[in-house]
Amino acid sequence: MANSDLAIYPGSFDPITNGHVDLVTRTLRVFDKVIVAIATNPDKDHCLFSVQERLDLINEVFAGLKGRVMADSFQGLLVDYAERKGSTVVIRGLRAISDFEYEFQMAMMNHRLKPKLETFFMMTGESEFYTSSRLVKEVVSLGGDVSGLVPDNVLNKLKAKFKR
Ligand code: PNS
Repeated sequence: MANSDLAIYPGSFDPITNGHVDLVTRTLRVFDKVIVAIATNPDKDHCLFSVQERLDLINEVFAGLKGRVMADSFQGLLVDYAERKGSTVVIRGLRAISDFEYEFQMAMMNHRLKPKLETFFMMTGESEFYTSSRLVKEVVSLGGDVSGLVPDNVLNKLKAKFKR
């Protein structure tokens, strides 16, 4: 039996940004619980942070929401993971129009694979509109400041990775 009160928020989260945090917080206004689910692919993982580091960062960020926000990782298809978790709801954020095509393709493919699975899109908050994990990593690696764009624990970990 699917649990419609549980939403899955999948992504790479390498690392989690304030844009992701905003989305989780707003998702909790609609759904009781959210699993922040890190999709992993051991053969094609070029991530800066290990899966465990990403899980730890997410758990720290949502430490005050234990029981409502869970961090997890999965391999394989998202639709199968959602089914295992008993959820029929996937949350994705949309920043700019440029996100749309990729998101549309994924939503349609997931829907084709599991018609009962619905993807809900949420607009990213305006202050997070230009934030992406890729850009924050690039900016920090080149000595720029991303405070305010990522949670403090992520900022510290990014600085440590790039020895800033
Ligand atoms: O944060 P990202 O990298 O944009 O997230 C993409 C993600 C993880 C949601 C997508 O790659 C995914 O769902 N991966 C799991 C494997 C899968 O189901 N692939 C088919 C998607 S139609």
